[in-house]
This record gives sequence, structure tokens and C-alpha cells, in this order.
Amino acid sequence: MQGMDMPPLGFGTYGRKGAEGIDAIGCALETGYRHLDTAQDYDTEAEVGEAMRRSGLPRGEVFVTTKVRPANFGPGALIPSLERSCEALGLEQVDLALIHWPAPNGERPLSDYIPQLAEARERGLARNIGVSNFTIALLDEALEILGGVPLLTNQVELNPLFRNRKLADHCTARGVTVTCYQPIAHGRIGEDPVMREIAEAHGATPEQVALAFELSRGYAAIPTSGKAERIKANFGALDIQLTEGEIDRIEGLDRGQRSIDPDWGPDWD
Ligand SMILES: NC(=O)c1ccc[n+]([C@@H]2O[C@H](COP(=O)([O-])OP(=O)(O)OC[C@H]3O[C@@H](n4cnc5c(N)ncnc54)[C@H](OP(=O)(O)O)[C@@H]3O)[C@@H](O)[C@H]2O)c1
Repeated sequence: MQGMDMPPLGFGTYGRKGAEGIDAIGCALETGYRHLDTAQDYDTEAEVGEAMRRSGLPRGEVFVTTKVRPANFGPGALIPSLERSCEALGLEQVDLALIHWPAPNGERPLSDYIPQLAEARERGLARNIGVSNFTIALLDEALEILGGVPLLTNQVELNPLFRNRKLADHCTARGVTVTCYQPIAHGRIGEDPVMREIAEAHGATPEQVALAFELSRGYAAIPTSGKAERIKANFGALDIQLTEGEIDRIEGLDRGQRSIDPDWGPDWD
């Protein structure tokens, strides 16, 4: 299956609902983002599809990710749910389909739903497959079940204040690209004085520096904003080249505080 690689800097669409959401996603496409991240649970698939159509961009120029919600993991349920996602998006195929979370409280084995995801790829509903919020053990188990079918990414919480390094290093070692969600710590990255200092040295914002740091580590990142000026400014991260010294300083900022941590979630590494 041919198609574009996943662009490292994408646009998150959580909360980008309705007319304002379509405008924000359209602004992202106009700015140059070519990777949109949605999910069945965000209820923004229709907005993503509408913004893509309005942009007039050829289908092959935008990389679209969606995520399957755990309610759709039951036998025979995952593929029809992805068909509904494609319908909402107005697309025949997504570029990437992710398992959004491992089954809550581990109530279902991976062997129930990972093979369904592989079959979705086989059928052409998704060009690539991946996971999100998977721990080291779950990632290894999923790869084992897939037996050679690649997982493109593990989308996880990661930013300079929550470095998530052990998991990220393991993903990289297994050839699974890390995609950082909350890549600008939900707007809190500018609270850190080192981030502000490095930003100032580049005539940049702390958010741009956080994104440039993540990209420098070989990760993808999917920031979002509802504000045109921030959507554009965040994209400017692609122009920032951090020095090794700056990267080392940012590596030292980890506070180890996870912000998305539902009580039904997995046992984190
Ligand atoms: N797989 C998962 O379980 C999972 C979980 C969470 C998120 N995600 C994905 O990751 C995407 C991003 O995560 P996120 O939305 O939680 O966090 P984020 O992108 O780190 O932060 C977004 C927040 O930061 C603010 N912001 C954006 N640009 C800014 C700037 N330049 N300066 C100051 N504040 C700024 C935004 O407010 P304004 O809108 O007011 O600008 C918004 O409140 C989501 O949209 C979603 O696609 C995935």
C-alpha cells in the first residue's frame, strides 16, 4: 500500500468541534500542517473531513489518523466502526488507525482486538495501524500477535515536563515511532524558566521549543489550538534548530507528572 509517510508535525483535533472547529482545522491546513489527528471519541471526524474538502487539497497530501474507541473492540465490531469513521470523514481509507486505549481495566485480551485492527489494514480501510497509551508490555504483546505486521506508532503523553523516556526509548528500539500527545503540556510549557530562556535565545515561543525538541528526538507531535495565531506559531517549530546543549538542558526538565491518567488505564511503566 503506497502513500505518504506520517508528517512529524500534525494537528490535534480534540475539542475542534462545529463551525469553529472546521475553521481551526482549515487554518491548520492553510498553514501547512499535513497530518490531522482525530478519534471516534473526539467526535471531530466530520469536521476533519469537511475542512479537508474545503481546503481543496488532493486526498494524497493529507495524512489522517483516527482512533478506535474501546467500546468497539468486541468480536466483529472494530471493522464496522472504522467503516463508520471513514464515512464520517468522507474518505475511503484512513492513513492510520490506532487503538485509542488498551481495553479498560484489561477487561479484554489484546488477542480480541489487535487481529481485527490488522484485518482492517488488510482490507484497505487503514493504510497503517498503530496503538495509543500502550505500555512496554502491551506494545510487545501486540507486536507478537501481529507477527511482522508493523505498528507505525504508539501515541502517548510526552513533553519536556513529562518525558516518558523509558517507554519512548523502548518504542524507538522496536521501530515504533513515538507520537507525542499533550506535546506542549496543554499550554503549561511556558511556566518553565529554562524553556522560556531557550525560547528567548531563538526569538521563539516555549511551545515552539517544546515541539522542536520532540521532533529532534525523532518523535511526531500533534499540538492543537483553537486560535489561528497559535496554530501558525506552533507550526514555526519546524524552523527551529536546537543545539546539543539546549537539548541536554530540556532533557533535565522532567517532572514525571502524568496529566492523563484514568483509573481504568493500564499499569504505566
Ligand atoms: N491518544 C490519546 O489518548 C490522546 C490524549 C490527549 C490528546 N490527544 C491528541 O493530542 C492532541 C493535543 O493534545 P492536547 O490538546 O491535550 O494538548 P496540547 O496540544 O499540549 O495543548 C493544547 C492546549 O494548549 C493551548 N495552546 C496551544 N498553542 C499554544 C501556544 N502557542 N501558547 C499557549 N497555549 C497554547 C491550547 O489552548 P487554545 O486552544 O486556547 O490555544 C490548548 O488548551 C489532541 O488534540 C488530540 O488530537 C490524544
